[in-house]
Amino acid sequence: MQNPSIPPSVTQVQPTNEPKIIVVGGRPLIGSVRIEGAKNAVLKMMAAAILANDVCVIKNVPDLSDVHMMSELMRNLGAKIEFKNHELTIDTRGVNDYEASYEYVSKLRASFVVLGPLLARFNQAKVSLPGGCAIGERRIDLHERGLKMLGADVVVEHGYVYANASELVGAKIYLDRPSNGATENIMLASVVAKGQTIIENAAQDPEIVNIADFLNAMGAKVSGAGTYQIVIDGVPLNELHGATIDTIPDRLEAGTFLLAALATTGEVEVTHCNPHHLYSLISKISEMGAEVSLYAPDTIKVTMQGKPKPIDLTTHPYPGFPTDLQAPVMAILATADGTSIMTETIYENRFMQVGELRRMGADITVKGNAAVIKGIPSLTGAEVKSSDLRAGAALVLAGLGAEGISEVTGLHHIDRGYDNFEAKFLGLGANIRRI
Ligand code: EPU
Repeated sequence: MQNPSIPPSVTQVQPTNEPKIIVVGGRPLIGSVRIEGAKNAVLKMMAAAILANDVCVIKNVPDLSDVHMMSELMRNLGAKIEFKNHELTIDTRGVNDYEASYEYVSKLRASFVVLGPLLARFNQAKVSLPGGCAIGERRIDLHERGLKMLGADVVVEHGYVYANASELVGAKIYLDRPSNGATENIMLASVVAKGQTIIENAAQDPEIVNIADFLNAMGAKVSGAGTYQIVIDGVPLNELHGATIDTIPDRLEAGTFLLAALATTGEVEVTHCNPHHLYSLISKISEMGAEVSLYAPDTIKVTMQGKPKPIDLTTHPYPGFPTDLQAPVMAILATADGTSIMTETIYENRFMQVGELRRMGADITVKGNAAVIKGIPSLTGAEVKSSDLRAGAALVLAGLGAEGISEVTGLHHIDRGYDNFEAKFLGLGANIRRI
């Protein structure tokens, strides 16, 4: 009913129940955070388990909405999945369907990676096209071309990719760019291809190594993962079996918490991480003026005093600077002592956080794939909205360092990739809560 005190011509904004994170900025964060397993390894290893036709166990699994969504998709294919104490038990003996519908794939792009294992196991697969998203077009041409080179017929029709092959045959496949998803789909299909497959210009990310280790534990023959050339010697499908794997630490979660020290002039230690996976960030954090200490084997401490120094930064495929930490670093550079330039080379539209940071007072101009960030004395708290997972993390970091109160919405993005996000910041002394 219309509020009588408001003239009828004025639109009344209905209060929403949308959850938000409320941050009161300005407290230096001090303390230690334990890092979870890497989302982007777990999701693909869940898909890889389809190949085993047996029981697999994935350890060190973060409790994330993406993991639950992928479990739903796998159950829909016939898998039995249990998630307890950060451990996933996946029984794929009952998998009897080779179709991943739009309902699932549209909610979780990573699930597109079931294409390779379904094709390998059933000689056919029907998987919904994931479509674009807030950060870019996200094409799948390299997945398609790779599978065709393995001998599959691949047709894209009515929003679905249909792939079938009476037999997959090893091939030498050069990727025009080192796509993670394409490397994974090709690797997962070629594990059972006849003969040898070589993926040239493969993605070299640590998550690819984790997936390859899991495949090898299942009886596959994959070598070279972590380099630009992955060699897969095909084995018969029925020789693959169940296996247990530990998930590597999430370098992006670790990076986000290390950056919190810079956002708040604090001292943050992350444990259970792998410093070798974070050298590009560590180098940039040092350049911004923070002190970085490494404690073998799995701990990094960052201490920040004063304002960050401006830097220039370009995102690159691993081992270059990760696109996923571009937005969080931008939140820090917004208050740097000078002007920084950030160039995004992986996605065509990954500066969605800029408009929101501007609402907090940031002086950022975007030209093409470059952003010019003129450091200001301080950000001021505002109502802001996450457009994707890492933009959401960036806004929380910005809020932690800002003067006053910030309200961050769009939390379903953050919950996709950060387990216990606010609780971990609370543990570091932040004034933060979710309502
Ligand atoms: N690309 C093509 N053709 C293809 C495949 C990719 O042009 O066939 C382009 C994409 O459009 C994009 C670039 O290549 O511009 C990189 O794509 P890539 O395939 O490497 O990315 P992805 O596998 O879809 C994963 C992560 C992303 C991360 C990127 C880059 C998962 C689930 N996602 O995506 O992480 O940004 O690699 O490192 O592993 C996230 O976690 O939310 C996230 C976006």
